[in-house]
Amino acid sequence: MYLRGFSGADLSSVYELACQTLSERYDPGLFTTVSSSWPEGFLVVESQQGIKAFLLGAMTSQIQSRVLMLAVSGDLRRRGVGTMLMSRFMEESYKKGTRVVTLEVRKNNDAALSFYNKLGFRRVDVIKNYYNDGEDAYQMQRWL
Ligand SMILES: CC(C)(COP(=O)(O)OP(=O)(O)OC[C@H]1O[C@@H](n2cnc3c(N)ncnc32)[C@H](O)[C@@H]1OP(=O)(O)O)[C@@H](O)C(=O)NCCC(=O)NCCS
Repeated sequence: MYLRGFSGADLSSVYELACQTLSERYDPGLFTTVSSSWPEGFLVVESQQGIKAFLLGAMTSQIQSRVLMLAVSGDLRRRGVGTMLMSRFMEESYKKGTRVVTLEVRKNNDAALSFYNKLGFRRVDVIKNYYNDGEDAYQMQRWL
């Protein structure tokens, strides 16, 4: 299993994984559009069975990056894969000049909240009706 940058040939696998693991539905075009502005912010983890995890992030200002999507296949969770993706993303962010990483997470996503807390992210805001189904999000951030 290894971590590498996204390439265009990964798009269908990444999209399929996003549909299986995330409750929001995204336009497939979003992946390539976001990645073209900052390719180092789009990371995948590949095993012999194919793409098993990914993180799509974006620069939102000169000193701020944002995690837009993060997903690990159900059969590989609690094995450090999400941590590996976030660590590399924070490294790439820092290299790019980022000093703060932000993200949004569903208020009821206890697994993700524990995960981000362990990585040093703290809640800074609640965004009402953030998701398509009306659920609120916590905005979280971590200084690098
Ligand atoms: C959240 C997610 C990315 C975590 O990925 P992961 O590879 O399982 O995470 P790791 O193995 O690196 O976990 C690191 C730590 O986070 C915490 N954590 C992760 N999953 C957890 C869970 N289900 N319950 C409680 N704590 C959890 C633990 O402290 C864990 O350390 P430990 O295993 O030594 O106890 C993964 O569960 C996932 O893809 N979920 C579905 C999609 C999603 O919710 N994405 C985030 C949207 S904002």
